[in-house]
Amino acid sequence: MNQFYNPVAVSLGAESAEAFAELFNKRYADVKRVLLLTRGAGVEQSDCLQPVLNAISKKETLLIEVTLNNPNVADIFKLKQQIEPFQYELIVAIGGGSVMDAAKVLSALQHKTFQTAAEVREAITSERYREEPDFTPWIGIPTTSGTGSEVTCWATVWDEENGSKYSVSDERLYARAALILPELTVTMPLRLSVATALDAMCHATEAYWSVHTNTITRAYSLQAIERIRQTLPLLLERPDNVAWREQLSLASLLAGLAFSNTRTTACHSISYPLTMLYGIDHGIAASITLTTVLRHNLDALIEPDKLFRAFGAADVNEVDNLIQSIYNIYGLSSSLSSYGVTVEGIREVVSHSYTKGRMDNNPVEISPEELERMLVSLL
Ligand SMILES: [Fe+2]
Repeated sequence: MNQFYNPVAVSLGAESAEAFAELFNKRYADVKRVLLLTRGAGVEQSDCLQPVLNAISKKETLLIEVTLNNPNVADIFKLKQQIEPFQYELIVAIGGGSVMDAAKVLSALQHKTFQTAAEVREAITSERYREEPDFTPWIGIPTTSGTGSEVTCWATVWDEENGSKYSVSDERLYARAALILPELTVTMPLRLSVATALDAMCHATEAYWSVHTNTITRAYSLQAIERIRQTLPLLLERPDNVAWREQLSLASLLAGLAFSNTRTTACHSISYPLTMLYGIDHGIAASITLTTVLRHNLDALIEPDKLFRAFGAADVNEVDNLIQSIYNIYGLSSSLSSYGVTVEGIREVVSHSYTKGRMDNNPVEISPEELERMLVSLL
């Protein structure tokens, strides 16, 4: 079935910032209070953001710097306490995936009150947030190029205490609008730039082979992969090259659109325990198994030649070479043992790798025994 749905109004490029601000003024004329979440680090000084910030400044605004990484239930509880008396009618999130995930969770949970972090956990795991008649509208302005969170309708909340990761998911979590300004990504540390681009590469590739793939999502996937493949190896030379940053931002958006309709698969499902148990950056944790899972999925691929071509490759070995070369250029290790993973630890990784809606979204089933063998081969 070739159907595609995504309701986010997307604006791309600094030249769209003025028009975006005008639209903001018109559409949110009645909004009085705005919760502004930023990643800090002075991103709000950027010239290209000024039209939007000027528009927001006409409202009563509560600015919160969200410096946390991978928000967990305790972080959400703390954030809720911090902003509680402020009756926000709109959230604007300027940041990476963690900031946008926080915005989504605060959108879903605004009208719930919690006495403890355990109550936040319960509201999320029981999906009680879905009973809310209204979610607070939010706008995403990404400062990284990888997460795609500005065009998806789910957020990740971590729970180290219980060794779990939850998905807050609802159609109402789509942003009302997204403004993508590649200039904002220029100041990202190089390692984060690479990890987020690898994350986007996984979003696109996993969307390509997902059981929910279709002609439309695959077109987005191929465009995204090709742009990342061509641009990512160059970034080391000149990380401030805006033209390359534009390509990576566009690729991240296209990958986000692709997986907004398919969700991710095995690579992401396996990445969650790698991040939770060993602190491996999300994009690295996801991409470290990309070619191993590609080999596993080979027979189920639709038009594999097109996928290989997007990677500039003729077969899976050449895809592997490309990803290895990106890891090498940026001094990243593709060996799980270098991140502290041991043969004994792999059992625990396997036991946490079967996230519902992700692993079962892979086109070829991966048994725990097969997964264990795959991970041992990556040590
Ligand atoms: Fe991801």
